[in-house]
Amino acid sequence: MKRITSLKGKIKVPGDKSISHRGIMFGAISEGITELDGFLNGADCISTMNCFRSMGISITHEGEHVTIHGKGLHGLSAPTNMLDVGNSGTTTRLISGILAGQPFISELNGDESIQKRPMKRIMTPLLQMGSNITSLKGNDCAPLRISPATNGLKGISYESNVASAQVKSCVLLAGLYADSETSVTEPVLSRNHTELMLNGFGANVTSLGTTATITPNPKLYGQKISVPGDISSAAYFIVAGAICPNADLLIENVNTNPTRAGILHVAKTMGASLEFLNRRIVSGEEVCDLHITTSDLAGCEISGDLIPTLIDEIPVIAVMAACAKGDTIIKDASELKVKESNRIDTVIENLSAMGVSCEALDDGMIIHGQSNKKGSDFFYGANIHTYMDHRIAMSFAIASLCANGETTLDHPECVDISYPTFYETLSSISNK
Ligand code: S3P
Repeated sequence: MKRITSLKGKIKVPGDKSISHRGIMFGAISEGITELDGFLNGADCISTMNCFRSMGISITHEGEHVTIHGKGLHGLSAPTNMLDVGNSGTTTRLISGILAGQPFISELNGDESIQKRPMKRIMTPLLQMGSNITSLKGNDCAPLRISPATNGLKGISYESNVASAQVKSCVLLAGLYADSETSVTEPVLSRNHTELMLNGFGANVTSLGTTATITPNPKLYGQKISVPGDISSAAYFIVAGAICPNADLLIENVNTNPTRAGILHVAKTMGASLEFLNRRIVSGEEVCDLHITTSDLAGCEISGDLIPTLIDEIPVIAVMAACAKGDTIIKDASELKVKESNRIDTVIENLSAMGVSCEALDDGMIIHGQSNKKGSDFFYGANIHTYMDHRIAMSFAIASLCANGETTLDHPECVDISYPTFYETLSSISNK
């Protein structure tokens, strides 16, 4: 990949990953048909789809249109094989909440990365609810086995020590099957798609501050959902628009749910020329078109309550910070260490390889903007180690657009997890 001279055009990013996963899951346990338009055809969402097919749910899938023939809260059948969650933390943690309420034994496992990701954070609340969940290797990671709860699931009030929508969603989903109300309190509010969408399917979820509470109810009903574009995918083009010369981009139909939109706040604080156009509500989610042009950026501090609203965007925000004047300090983000790769280490390793001066912190990183030792360029080309992490691959593909010299990615295809058409979209607007 090489430096570009301009970036121009109008693009649409693929459907939101979090909403696509949830659409399949909630559709499967609802009565009747759920239709999803704008479904993300990424490998992670296909893993979710295949897990539910293995439990007897008929799902038809044509392009971005998916039809799920739901069988209700108690209609899943025992899978005959181990459920394959692939690379997907969302599949693993959310499905475990649903499986905890089933009258059959299930086992699930995924790739090398998923087998290292922490599952104690969901095992602890599920065990408190009475679930029989075990880590088959005894290391609190997948593979997991979930056996029927001997005395059924009981409602709990759970204080989570991590701001994680996956943990919150897992507990709320198990709460659908519990004998009484279940609530989850998190230290900082994480993305709230589960709360919004479950209510759309007929559940009774209330939110107060950082506490979400679900009352068990006998039925959910199939819905028609229009999945908006994923802000985590738009993030690559927001940053590209801000850092590339002669850039003028319109990114249409982006989900700007406030629990996800921290990157917009950060880009504005750093001085990005970013406009929000045509604001509207689609399937209960805030959506708009984003207009971004080449920007003069300055470093800033990113910490506290903002972190969960941009956790997946930090790798590409780090790339933006490397192009900004001054230092950017990212704190309170130790969750980065337990993503598809340790994203503190993988970002620092690759930015350093491109000549950027930066340091890892225990809970984040410091990036000294415009610090490339080889002159006035922001980066120089390097061999990027993606560690098969889709967000590292895409972030450094964006860095390469401003790099002096050639950049290579060791596993470019790993973008298929969340954005299979990423390179096509990027080349369609490059040097235009
Ligand atoms: C997700 C929640 C976040 C995010 C992930 C998707 C979700 O994970 O990083 O990409 O759809 O609930 P955590 O809940 O672990 O923070």
